[in-house]
Amino acid sequence: MKIAVLAETASGETRVAAIPETVKKFIALGAELAVEEGAGLAAAITDAEFAAAGAITGPRSAVLAGADIILSVSGPEAVTLAGAAPGAILVGALDSIRRGDAIQAYAAAGLQALSLEWMPRITRAQSMDVLSSQSNLAGYKAVIDGAAAYGRAFPMMMTAAGTISPARVFVMGVGVAGLQAIATARRLGAQVSATDVRSATREQIQSLGAKPVFVEDVAGIEGEGQGGYATETSAEYQRAQAELVSGHIAKQDIVITTALIPGKPAPRLISDTQIASMRPGSVLVDLAADAGGNVEGTVVGERVQKHGVTILGAVNLARSLPADASALFARNVYNFLSAFWDKELGGPVLPDDDEIVRGIRVTKDGVIVNERLLAARPTA
Ligand code: NAI
Repeated sequence: MKIAVLAETASGETRVAAIPETVKKFIALGAELAVEEGAGLAAAITDAEFAAAGAITGPRSAVLAGADIILSVSGPEAVTLAGAAPGAILVGALDSIRRGDAIQAYAAAGLQALSLEWMPRITRAQSMDVLSSQSNLAGYKAVIDGAAAYGRAFPMMMTAAGTISPARVFVMGVGVAGLQAIATARRLGAQVSATDVRSATREQIQSLGAKPVFVEDVAGIEGEGQGGYATETSAEYQRAQAELVSGHIAKQDIVITTALIPGKPAPRLISDTQIASMRPGSVLVDLAADAGGNVEGTVVGERVQKHGVTILGAVNLARSLPADASALFARNVYNFLSAFWDKELGGPVLPDDDEIVRGIRVTKDGVIVNERLLAARPTA
């Protein structure tokens, strides 16, 4: 079983889908590893380190020749995959809905493409969940970037020249990224509060030493929907939430928004009027920028100023921590493939009726097979 690890070609991608540790582990399972030259450089892993772990390194054509499994982070162009074994498995966070044409091309090339961002949110799959591993880092980095853009210190400081008050940080949306944002802001000494539509997060917020800010006694909060995700809220709830946020936000220095609803645009949580109520010098970090933004006026990937407040349209923050992001991603990939590894066959066996396989498999035998993708692309 030959596993090829590609150098990423997507613009801005810094990560790599294997690290020397996972290379060694795959070799221990009996696989042969081939890593494309320079694949790890942006993540501070040299070809020599991959070679020392037991991988062959070389140009893409040599790495792909006869490969049964191809590992990537954000998905290569299908035309660059010539030479792989027929029916080769392509593993990556393929961004299947947005990269529909690439997925179609994988099908046409006869690849079995597995889109890791659709890993089901079930206990068995936790260690394989790239959304969680990368969101966790994004939550951390959002606070670091917010702190860097903020012209004051985070912790309370008592100095001979007087006291500096602690920064007030408000986290909106307490999923994986939000929880890490709370923890990071607390470690930096900020006073932290947080909100979510899912009532289950109240205790999680408290357990991290932050103050929960919740809409109470309003009908129409479905809160937790399928798979532990949020659902859309009623108009009445949205009004109550806006009122609550308006009162709270005017007193905050840094607001980190992470609210997402699967398959829908990000909910709008902060209006221009609310931004205007904030103290000049405050910072908003919008982690939902790519999904339409939680903050009015967010520009994807840009830093903009409104009413004296800085808005960071954060996108792909995990890419700015390439070494850690790669290590976690690579372990997710290894945990997934090794869980399905059949020692006698010397490779993964992916049963059609397995919940994980059904969730992430997007192409097989020349066609698109994923229900979620087919529903999103009725013409596919
Ligand atoms: P996400 O990235 O989809 O959303 C972020 C947060 O925004 C969520 O907590 C959501 O409730 C919140 N939100 C949505 N609309 C909002 C609004 N209008 N106002 C305020 N907050 C709003 O969430 P993520 O991080 O993917 O986590 C989703 C769920 O999946 C969580 O319950 C998490 O614990 C669970 N999970 C389970 C895993 C497993 O068992 N394998 C792995 C990772 C997460």
